[in-house]
Amino acid sequence: MALEDTAVSPATDEQLAWRNQADTHRRFISRTVAVVGFMGVGKTSVGRELARLLDRPFIDTDDVVQERSGQSIPELFEQGEHIFRKLEREAVEDALAMPPCVVALGGGAFSQPGAAELLLGKAIVVHLYIPFRVIRRQLDALAVDRPLIRGRQPWQVQDLFLARAASYRRAHVRVCLPRHDVGEAAAELAAMLSARRRPDYG
Ligand code: S3P
Repeated sequence: MALEDTAVSPATDEQLAWRNQADTHRRFISRTVAVVGFMGVGKTSVGRELARLLDRPFIDTDDVVQERSGQSIPELFEQGEHIFRKLEREAVEDALAMPPCVVALGGGAFSQPGAAELLLGKAIVVHLYIPFRVIRRQLDALAVDRPLIRGRQPWQVQDLFLARAASYRRAHVRVCLPRHDVGEAAAELAAMLSARRRPDYG
């Protein structure tokens, strides 16, 4: 039978390219969503709401670390930051091994050695951004249970904020929160991730 007699005509290069792209997009959006960003930007609130909208489980790595160790984050830091980081890394790896979910990471998790490579390869990484001047207003409240803020001067926290900016910049998607409330940010992300709007993955 000649090719022109078949009901299915061969796809053009353009159609094939579009199909491949749509396929890649579908595989990409079925990944776990990892929410990263500096302390106090609202990763847990946005992540939880996003999980609800996408109908996926929600995991907070800080909660996992505290539940598993039976200790608070300040208590773990008292024994050494590396103790906390090891447990945090395990919580990240375990979340990535689960069926697609939404995971909110502690503010330092994405900047640890090898973490960005791992997460960018396996998840969709969403960076929640708030300018430092907004975080600065919350420093007293954040200091209560965050050892990296407690006892530090605002300029020292700002140094940490700047030092981490380069790694956060590698995220696939960025949401600037002062222009969105939590519900709006989560709704925008959910619309993007459920493929109703094609994202610019940067
Ligand atoms: C940390 C952020 C905290 C928590 C720990 C260390 C960091 O999480 O993981 O205190 O290194 O930035 P949040 O970003 O949820 O506050």
